Amino acid sequence: MNDQAEALRNLVTIQEKLAAAKQTRIVTVTSGKGGVGKSNFSLNFALALQKRGYSVLLFDADIGMANIDVLLGTPAEFNLFHLLKREKTIWEIIQTGPGGLRFIAGGSGFKDLVRLSEADLDYFAAQIGQLHGHVDFLIFDTGAGLSKETLRFITAAQEAVVITTPEPTSITDAYALIKMVKTMGHDVSFRLVINRVADEREGQQTASNIQQVSKKYLNIELPLLGYVPDDSHMIKAVKRQTALSIAYPDSAANRGIERIAAAYLSEDKAVEAGGARSFLQRIRRLWG
Ligand SMILES: Nc1ncnc2c1ncn2[C@@H]1O[C@H](COP(=O)(O)OP(=O)(O)OP(=O)(O)O)[C@@H](O)[C@H]1O
Ligand SMILES: [Mg+2]
Repeated sequence: MNDQAEALRNLVTIQEKLAAAKQTRIVTVTSGKGGVGKSNFSLNFALALQKRGYSVLLFDADIGMANIDVLLGTPAEFNLFHLLKREKTIWEIIQTGPGGLRFIAGGSGFKDLVRLSEADLDYFAAQIGQLHGHVDFLIFDTGAGLSKETLRFITAAQEAVVITTPEPTSITDAYALIKMVKTMGHDVSFRLVINRVADEREGQQTASNIQQVSKKYLNIELPLLGYVPDDSHMIKAVKRQTALSIAYPDSAANRGIERIAAAYLSEDKAVEAGGARSFLQRIRRLWG
């Protein structure tokens, strides 16, 4: 019997016993092209879910690039680096930002999960596995593009929110990302968010564009969660290092994100069977 498999089974048993009634859902926010608004969307989407009574943990999965703490203007004392180096536990690296938002900062000075030893990775898995049942949503904000790390965070999630702007390059890159994940046979369901639209019509057109090619060439439905207007308040909030939903709650962009959160929560989602076990299996995909 493989010791690691045995250890994992024991851990799963413990987790199943300890798990609260909550089923933690993993959502990855991603895009093909960079700079389309993933981090700002993740942040304000997390705050919108929290406002509706859900507990959320935002995880900066753009490893080594420190996005979330910069957007929040809250330098993180501890980050993913401390966890990966086994200096801190998962509970010790969870930071609380403005609005009571809990997040894990991506840290800086390292890049690659692959370079960690098996033992480090097992520690990482076991630690993240502990989150199961403690939060309703674990949101991964990924870095741009088709990097190996980003693919791992996508495949660990039940749902991936793909962000694109109406720009053709952003649309084709989003499609390429979806195609790649689907071609690899991963069981992730995609949702679409169109960011920086001039008006509703542009949002709908952009969505139907990418939905049509996905249906035709990949035979997948790509439900539209919603769109977010191009809004200078977003740029101002970034400069102020304050979340949009705190700095400008009534701005058009924040109202768009609020609508998206409401639409997302109203979807009838089948809760994945397996509880803590399937949560851990997904987390283990982070280096599968
Ligand atoms: N709805 C919006 N309206 C206006 N500007 C926006 C909007 N969304 C994002 N931006 C602008 O785009 C910039 C990049 O956003 P953000 O950092 O969230 O993108 P990202 O996809 O996370 O980037 P990266 O790929 O580098 O991680 C923001 O700093 C802001 O200036
Ligand atoms: Mg980002």
